[in-house]
Amino acid sequence: MMNKNSEAILNFENKEIALPVICGSEGEKALDISTLRKSTGLVTLDQGFANTASCCSQITYIDGEKGILRYRGIPIAELAAKVSFVDVAYLLVHGTLPTEKERMDFSSLLNYNSLLHEDMRHFFDHFPKGAHPMHILSTMVNAMAAFYPTVDVTATARNIEHSCARVISIVRTIAAFAYKKSIGEPIVYPRHDLSYCANFLNMMFDSPVKPYHISPEAVRLLNVLFIIHADHEQNCSTTAVRAIGSAQVNLYSTIAAGVSALSGPLHGGANQAVIEQLRMIMADGDVDKFIRKAKDKNDSFRLMGFGHRVYKTYDPRAEIVRKECEKYLKETGINDPLLDIAHKIEEIAREDSYFVERGLYPNVDFYTGILYRAMGIPENMFTVMFALARLPGWVAHWREMIGDSTKIVRPRQIYTGRTPSEVGSEIENFSPPSLLI
Ligand code: CMC
Repeated sequence: MMNKNSEAILNFENKEIALPVICGSEGEKALDISTLRKSTGLVTLDQGFANTASCCSQITYIDGEKGILRYRGIPIAELAAKVSFVDVAYLLVHGTLPTEKERMDFSSLLNYNSLLHEDMRHFFDHFPKGAHPMHILSTMVNAMAAFYPTVDVTATARNIEHSCARVISIVRTIAAFAYKKSIGEPIVYPRHDLSYCANFLNMMFDSPVKPYHISPEAVRLLNVLFIIHADHEQNCSTTAVRAIGSAQVNLYSTIAAGVSALSGPLHGGANQAVIEQLRMIMADGDVDKFIRKAKDKNDSFRLMGFGHRVYKTYDPRAEIVRKECEKYLKETGINDPLLDIAHKIEEIAREDSYFVERGLYPNVDFYTGILYRAMGIPENMFTVMFALARLPGWVAHWREMIGDSTKIVRPRQIYTGRTPSEVGSEIENFSPPSLLI
């Protein structure tokens, strides 16, 4: 529901312009500036879109001041405790939790679409040794556009349904194949008798010479981790998906753009960067030194896994991961010294005015790496795990976007380059290279 119930008056060059204030279903208010340029010639400047709502959406609600995250109205902690990742994927994409029949149909669709086109299997042979799995993943997802029927805004509802299930399901197969290739082991195909997360673990860890025992606890944990990462409204990669998709690019290339955006260390790549940083701090032994570096404005060092554009309190997802991480390490008897370093950093930051005043708390990436490590997931796969989990969110936003018939994403800018008078006679005086003549 979106109400237009008040307006704000802008006074500019002795002219008053009324701008409608719209109100979201949770009471958040926004200035609707869609007529601003036409009526005043003004555009707005908001670098990093920190104050800009780029769309209206019914998928996910965040209150960053209160630490609230809900998918389709349901709190994240309840989803993590009670439902499976596949149910959450359905919820995000379709708007409600599935009935028994809807769950069966959706699971069958995921299973039916889990096989990667056999000709694509050979692509894995041609990536260089040591290629990051996120690069492999984005390439492979983009290549799907050449192997499967085009799906864009003009596609039939059935094609959209199948293609969305295909991309959610196949990315898991691609990720596991990429890992198997990287360690020189034969790939393991998906199995129809395994659940979504169990299937992924089996494809990652089963081997002809060492059959993998699927641990129910690992499956439960993976469900929880995937659920908490499944959507996060207009984050960088989802914004990339909406922006690229708005040009009516096909679904696969659109999702590949999301994967690429996620790989950055300020976004999904942070989970790998956290572990690398914790290891560096442990090797050095002086935690306080790194806290000082993080606070020093002349030092580019930042605490990875800390801070968030939206949350100015504890990230509710980080809360869930921290508890699960501590529980799992205790139950399995794993003693990871990186967890002690992480605890120490959090303890210091919670008391330190630099972090408190700026609302800098651990985000979702701070503890996930330690948990993935304990579960035997290799470090260069951490961000891939984030991508698998974020697939339903990207797909849900893409579907919402094409259904809304939104305009192509094409922001304005404030030009700050040279004017013709500053350029002077540069072009007249320019001597072209003789080859062009
Ligand atoms: N360490 C030290 N100082 C920080 C940090 C940090 N991790 N994060 C923010 N700050 C400071 C920043 O220097 C600035 O200080 P000042 O106001 O004095 O200039 C203030 O806090 C606000 O920071 P900002 O860069 O304006 O905040 P932002 O909303 O543009 O950036 C962020 C958000 C997540 C990119 C940033 O907090 C960061 O770089 N964190 C580390 C990387 C990270 O953990 N990323 C994962 C994000 S959560 C998962 C996801 O979205 O994928």
